[in-house]
Amino acid sequence: MDTKTKYLGLELKSPVIAGSCGLTADVDKMVQMEAAGAGAVVVKSVFEEQIIHDIKRNTHMVAPTDNYGDSYEYIAQHVADDSLERHFSMIREAKRRLSIPVIGSINCFSYENWLTYAKKFEDTGCDALELNMAILPYETSMSADDVERTFTQIINTLRKSISIPISIKVGPYFTDMAKQMQQLSWMGIQGVTMFNKSVQVDIDTENETLKNASFLSTHEDMYNTLRWVALLSKKMRCDLSASTGVYSGDDVVKMLLAGATTVQVVSALYKNGIDALRDINAGLQAWMQKKGYDSVAQFRGKLAVSPAEKASVAMRTQFMKYFAEIV
Ligand SMILES: Cc1cc2nc3c(=O)[nH]c(=O)nc-3n(C[C@H](O)[C@H](O)[C@H](O)COP(=O)(O)O)c2cc1C
Repeated sequence: MDTKTKYLGLELKSPVIAGSCGLTADVDKMVQMEAAGAGAVVVKSVFEEQIIHDIKRNTHMVAPTDNYGDSYEYIAQHVADDSLERHFSMIREAKRRLSIPVIGSINCFSYENWLTYAKKFEDTGCDALELNMAILPYETSMSADDVERTFTQIINTLRKSISIPISIKVGPYFTDMAKQMQQLSWMGIQGVTMFNKSVQVDIDTENETLKNASFLSTHEDMYNTLRWVALLSKKMRCDLSASTGVYSGDDVVKMLLAGATTVQVVSALYKNGIDALRDINAGLQAWMQKKGYDSVAQFRGKLAVSPAEKASVAMRTQFMKYFAEIV
């Protein structure tokens, strides 16, 4: 049974990838993921806020005032380099101990740091870089055009500045999802990961405060990704990695039939342990065997909406079938 997959130009032994999360900040756990059959790992993102937090914490330790004059810049740079270096030494160790591809991940808010960090990631020797760009237009002053401009500016700059493959991880909220995703795929990047799941906010009614809702996806969360993968996979000029709500080999099969190149798993690893990767890969292989498929290429994209087909018609037909079944 051949589950080999080419993703971002890299050879993967399985299309099942461990997605970016706290577990992929630990090299021992990444080694276990490889042993359980992960095709690649996406390392926990470096968040620019985390570096700034380290700078603030450490500069306060140096002196009880914010006013350091010229030396502040020097100290801040030193702390930032030190924080990043800890992350990079973890990536270098992962590269030494793993034989599957190790994909770095960053999430910045300032244009300069997207560029600075991306170059440093390339220097660590990671195999590719996933840009965690789940931009939520929280401000009433922010338009869809502003979001598009941010994507264009950052991607164009990074594409010219680094030579490792780049994939963009996006969130599930766009006013013009299909158009945006297709345009992204035309920008010379190697992949798009659909979708990141943003932290959900809840309210503690007892204390009347905000709190985080559960970080983990439910299985039902996969259907939004499945829909968009099926609608867009044949209309994009780069790989598609499906993320959110994938728990089983059967879920992976569905994402591949819809046209995903790879499938990322995170919540399943938190809920069912790293060994869940073993079951997921076994489920994929058992299905392939039952169906008589020798390779993923034989069925990948079989149920994707074809470029000639109008997506709106395909979706409306599904909708009408649903009503035909319930009446
Ligand atoms: C605890 C936790 C930490 C995460 N950290 C990151 C991160 O650092 N970078 C990132 O791009 N995504 C991060 N994610 C999002 C996941 O990579 C993934 O896109 C999301 O959880 C949906 O996939 P799932 O349904 O398989 O969990 C995190 C998710 C969880 C649950």
